[in-house]
Amino acid sequence: NVPVITIDGPTASGKGTVASRVAERLSFHLLDSGALYRLTALQALRRGVELRDEHAIAKLAEHLPARFQGEHIYLAHEDVTHAIRAEEVGNMASKIAALPTVRQALVGLQLGFRQTPGLVADGRDMGTVIFPTARLKVFLTASVEARAQRRYKQLIDKGFSANMNDLLADLQARDERDTNRAVAPLAPASDAHLLDTSEMGVDQAVDQVLAWYAQ
Ligand code: CDP
Repeated sequence: NVPVITIDGPTASGKGTVASRVAERLSFHLLDSGALYRLTALQALRRGVELRDEHAIAKLAEHLPARFQGEHIYLAHEDVTHAIRAEEVGNMASKIAALPTVRQALVGLQLGFRQTPGLVADGRDMGTVIFPTARLKVFLTASVEARAQRRYKQLIDKGFSANMNDLLADLQARDERDTNRAVAPLAPASDAHLLDTSEMGVDQAVDQVLAWYAQ
């Protein structure tokens, strides 16, 4: 019975950073489930597969040659760690994530990350759909403004250009899609701990998650 900690929440809420630090502290494996949607989106964009061709996108997801190695993410042999962080890829990811057959195609791959000694899983539906029996479920939130600031900084740090107004609009559009889609809509599991990080640094958020886990 391998322990799982799920960390779900809206776009740019800081889940990714918190999840990877918690995994590091516990020496657990890490599942960045958003990366799987981004990898699928990147492939669809590159191959010119259109959003309305759900079947073709689900096929890409089903045979996704994803490989995670430390901080690096590979699509087959290509290091796409940087490429999948582009806003264009994130937007496409958010759209294909609303397609039920695409979500279904990624279930098995995600379950496979549950390995000893444990797993920290970061996403939207980790606690509600993929790991409903997780030992600890956390739902991270932050104000739209705090999240737009974080995303801005993240993009600039990675060498992308960014515009605050566009980011705010994108963020709201993504929230809207994540919350209102028919399958696995973004919502806290009924047994999730809520953590608002608007006014909280990463270290404090990590400590809170670890404290809950230790309870
Ligand atoms: O940058 P952001 O936090 O929006 O994205 P991400 O965590 O890298 O995930 C990319 C997109 O995949 C999100 O916009 C979500 O719509 C979707 N996603 C999902 O539907 N379910 C998950 N478990 C993870 C991500």
